Amino acid sequence: MGAWPDLTEYHEVVQHPPRAFADPGLKAVSLELDRFGMPKPATGGNAVVYKGKEPGGFFSFKKTWAIRCFLRPISDHAERYEAISKHLRKVRLPYDVNFQFLKQGVQIRSHWFPIVKMQWADGDLLHSHIEKHLRDPASLAALRTKWVTLVSDLEAARVAHGDLQHGNILVRGGSIQLVDYDGMWVPALKGRHATETGHRAYQHPERSGKDYGQEIDRFSVLLIYLSLAALERDVTLWERFHTGDNLIFVREDFHQLGRSAIWQQLRRIGSGQIDQLAAALATMVQQHPMKVSSLDSVLKNLAYFKFPASIPASTPAKRVAPTTSAVPTPPPSVPTPPAPKPVAVQGARAAGAMPTWMKKSDYRDRSDD
Ligand SMILES: Nc1ncnc2c1ncn2[C@@H]1O[C@H](COP(=O)(O)OP(=O)(O)O)[C@@H](O)[C@H]1O
Ligand SMILES: [Mg+2]
Repeated sequence: MGAWPDLTEYHEVVQHPPRAFADPGLKAVSLELDRFGMPKPATGGNAVVYKGKEPGGFFSFKKTWAIRCFLRPISDHAERYEAISKHLRKVRLPYDVNFQFLKQGVQIRSHWFPIVKMQWADGDLLHSHIEKHLRDPASLAALRTKWVTLVSDLEAARVAHGDLQHGNILVRGGSIQLVDYDGMWVPALKGRHATETGHRAYQHPERSGKDYGQEIDRFSVLLIYLSLAALERDVTLWERFHTGDNLIFVREDFHQLGRSAIWQQLRRIGSGQIDQLAAALATMVQQHPMKVSSLDSVLKNLAYFKFPASIPASTPAKRVAPTTSAVPTPPPSVPTPPAPKPVAVQGARAAGAMPTWMKKSDYRDRSDD
């Protein structure tokens, strides 16, 4: 097969679709071009994606495809995509777009390399959508409600996306669509390892390839929920904490619980709900990545979350053994969670007392991540 193609090679061959692709639909596409007349790629790190329009014929409509070329090989890729495709067809969610894993995808140096041919999802990436609606808290709140529904639908359908982050979430009108199914988990993939661990600014800091299951989205789900809720109340968070490649948290914040500027600023909003959500997220950082509670359970038990006591700046979050859970996480089939006990986080503050994390101020340069 030779070396795996790099971006430049993909870029070169896709300029001649009839030669590059085996799929008849893709052979006929015109690629979207940039202002220099070159194919316009989108890339998130694992793949380079081209937008191609297939002209309509006498019996067919015009179609727009995302042509996803992989930047690295994954040995069981075809099997994984087959399992994902089968499961998604069965559960019929409104959040995924049709796709096909094509083993004979793109031809480079006389060898075939796989691609994913995917329906193009129109809309704005999550961060662009948020930016456009910053001055419209009602619309952010509506998106947050949609988010809760999407998350509970995914949980009920036993699907985890694996990399929920702005680059994989498209918003159009009132609907949300997810793209990039490389890291997706469905029950047939039980026992395998993850092929990726998701975007740093959205994932549990201790998540590793071994953590792969229904639970892998829960941290990012809560982070996105909290970010939306906070932005509804304080738009200045965006200007201050959005880097272009996150929402309002960066990885470093998970190692600086309560101390980095975002936590302090969230506290300044003066909202009990935001304080509880922030406490819940901080509590989950201290859980094992596979023991993070579902959003549903967090929201039902919000009042029980107390911010964990201050942790020395250089100490990474403690990884709690996966056999214990701070908040009872009901299986998806149980509608009402059992009455929760107060969150058993060491040193949790007494009600009404000045939280330890508020006593320290540690502003940092946020240009990283
Ligand atoms: N089906 C699609 N519809 C619209 N845009 C897409 C689609 N698939 C990918 N993209 C765009 O391409 C970017 C990179 O694709 P993605 O599949 O997320 O690759 P990576 O695995 O590298 O993150 C996405 O952030 C998105 O902007
Ligand atoms: Mg992506």
